[in-house]
Amino acid sequence: MKISVAGTGYVGLVTAVCLAERGNNVTCLDIDEEKISQMNKGIAPIFEPGLEELMKKNKDNITYTTDYTKAYSDARIIIIGVGTPEKKDGSANLNFVYEVARQIAQTVENDCVVIVKSTVPVGTNDKVEQIININKKNNVLIEVVSNPEFLSQGTAVNDTLNAARIVLGVESENAENVLKKMYNDFNIPFVVTDRRSAEMIKYAANDFLALKISYINEMANLCEIVGANIDDVATGMGMDPRIGNRFLNAGIGYGGSCFPKDTKALHWLASFNDYELKTVKAAIEVNENQKIKLIKKSRKYYDTFNGLNIAVLGLTFKPGTDDLRDAPSLVNIPLLIEDGAHVKAWDPVGAENFKKLFPDEIYYCDSIQDTLIDADICFIFTEWAEIKNFPLYKYKELMKNPLILDGRNCYSLTEAEEAGLVYESIGRRK
Ligand code: UGA
Repeated sequence: MKISVAGTGYVGLVTAVCLAERGNNVTCLDIDEEKISQMNKGIAPIFEPGLEELMKKNKDNITYTTDYTKAYSDARIIIIGVGTPEKKDGSANLNFVYEVARQIAQTVENDCVVIVKSTVPVGTNDKVEQIININKKNNVLIEVVSNPEFLSQGTAVNDTLNAARIVLGVESENAENVLKKMYNDFNIPFVVTDRRSAEMIKYAANDFLALKISYINEMANLCEIVGANIDDVATGMGMDPRIGNRFLNAGIGYGGSCFPKDTKALHWLASFNDYELKTVKAAIEVNENQKIKLIKKSRKYYDTFNGLNIAVLGLTFKPGTDDLRDAPSLVNIPLLIEDGAHVKAWDPVGAENFKKLFPDEIYYCDSIQDTLIDADICFIFTEWAEIKNFPLYKYKELMKNPLILDGRNCYSLTEAEEAGLVYESIGRRK
């Protein structure tokens, strides 16, 4: 059964490679020739632990191409995993998805099932089906199925191979059977529903997680005011199985390519239908404010950053990725530069991408140690393991003034105090 995957970003490529790992033959399609030629050499176009190894291991079962006719004409399953970027008004831009639908309609020569894996607003699968039926060249049956993806960057391969559930939004028994067959060797429970509910599950799940983070961040802010400790509060809350202990880490807000985009898209969809999603709106607002929390805290110590040496540790939106999309660093660093600070930054994998956006404005260091030398303030934006394991006494040794503003609660308060640091974190006693 030939499977083709349109789009080789996080969703498309990881899905393709994991399907190959489970014994399927997969063709990956992308319009970007450079990416395809890289993948043909065994190089992953994205930083994702374990992905390149699996690409190499399954190289005989994966074909990479830019030729959509070759990819679609004889495929039995076509997976759409292209991007749905945010439009200016917050809604999702579906042009890539619709373009793939048109290409499928024009090329498919057999009955097949089209799986929409990209995160798309409710009703998009219906529209994809419509586009396919209007543009269909041959007299074949093309069924459209919603099968949203729940992988996280940094753990994408494991999340796909060992997902908690596989959601199938189907409108026919045949489509359900085809998908169940494709996922047969994954051994993961299915949630079978209609297409609109499947589309909704994806947004509802992501927005709930975003809400959970904004909620814990608000509790952290209140802890600071009333003198409580968010770490203990989160532990105490999380032990209740109805709440669960994950996604209760307070910090300087969520970033990435999903939560910021998906909260805005769902809020937009509701507003478009004359309904206001008040909780989601609040989560978005809390997150915007949370991102500049450390700068606000720094005002206790300095009125201006002008002339100060500032060390920044961590640039990516979370550890385990080189992705900067909606990362707190992108909001904070321009503010520091504008105010006249001399910024030095370190990130184990994200620095190259940051350099493309800020080539000359900041100095990039190869080690945490070099970044800290002579610094007046150290900002921590990402909880990389290298930062968490960096000995606290070294901050005191290396920095001019050891003021640490930690946006990810990397260190214990007691240890920071014992090391003689002025240490500010999120939701904990100073
Ligand atoms: C998220 C979801 O977790 C995935 O299930 C989903 O499939 C994916 O979006 C998507 O829609 O494609 P991802 O954006 O890769 O995955 O990253 P997360 O691990 O969810 O982290 C998102 C942000 O939340 C990060 O900035 C992280 O630092 C922040 N976060 C996470 C917190 O601030 N506190 C937490 O307790 C957890």
